[in-house]
Amino acid sequence: MNFSIEIKNLKKKFRDFEAVGGITFNVEKGEVFGLLGPNGAGKTTTIRMITTLMPPTSGEIFVAGYDAKKYGATIRKYIGYVPQALSADSTLTGYENLLFVAKLLRLSKKEREERIDYILNILNLKDAENRLIKEYSGGMIRRLEIGQAIIHRPEVLILDEPTVGLDPVARLNVWKVLETLRKETGLTILITTHYMEEAEAICGRIAIMNSGKIAAMGTPEELKLKTGNPDATLEDVFTFFTKNQLESGGSYRETSQLRKRIQRFS
Ligand SMILES: Nc1ncnc2c1ncn2[C@@H]1O[C@H](COP(=O)(O)OP(=O)(O)OP(=O)(O)O)[C@@H](O)[C@H]1O
Ligand SMILES: [Mg+2]
Repeated sequence: MNFSIEIKNLKKKFRDFEAVGGITFNVEKGEVFGLLGPNGAGKTTTIRMITTLMPPTSGEIFVAGYDAKKYGATIRKYIGYVPQALSADSTLTGYENLLFVAKLLRLSKKEREERIDYILNILNLKDAENRLIKEYSGGMIRRLEIGQAIIHRPEVLILDEPTVGLDPVARLNVWKVLETLRKETGLTILITTHYMEEAEAICGRIAIMNSGKIAAMGTPEELKLKTGNPDATLEDVFTFFTKNQLESGGSYRETSQLRKRIQRFS
């Protein structure tokens, strides 16, 4: 099996507190893998260790076969990272933001032009390339940030709650961009989300984290079967494995309709 990410018994302690308590999972090449879990479960801490931003207390991480302990700099070339906090410069245009990253990477003028053009088209931002980021909608900014994270052509794209705060249509557009990238470039995607319909729509497999441990892992269908209730929704699965009641606001109906729409797209 060809794995993009291999995690073995990974742990992170902050003083006496174990934020990540020995987790093991693999992400296959070209797979969309979702990390779910309540606030404080350890998702972001796990991602920070995989992206080499934070050293583990113990355990092993391999990205594209490289051991993170020895090959941190190499691993960073294989990873694109879209953090939770906004990372685009609001005083520049979309094109200028991408150009800035491309120049940092020391790409030639021809490479820069080709890659930026390709990315703007995939992201559906070609028409907005010369507008300032401060005039972009939240969804457009998120898509641009995905673009910034893939200019160096990573094998793995890691996104920490990329669609938080987006309206349903903007969220759907982010999903479509991720799906296009996966299909066209074979990109492996590791994503955290609090939206069950998002996990169900885009993830091949899911790990549900709770208090630093993996409480359950599998395809959405496998996880539903594990609850013993054949009619379980992913919300039920989440509650079953975390004993954590999801907040079910008025948006649930809306988002479940959205799920049906994206299934039609795929
Ligand atoms: N630098 C730190 N120092 C001390 N404790 C930390 C640090 N970073 C995270 N923690 C703690 O570790 C636990 C896991 O945090 P983490 O941010 O990984 O959770 P999460 O699953 O990403 O949650 P959320 O869904 O809210 O983003 C939390 O209890 C958090 O308070
Ligand atoms: Mg987090």
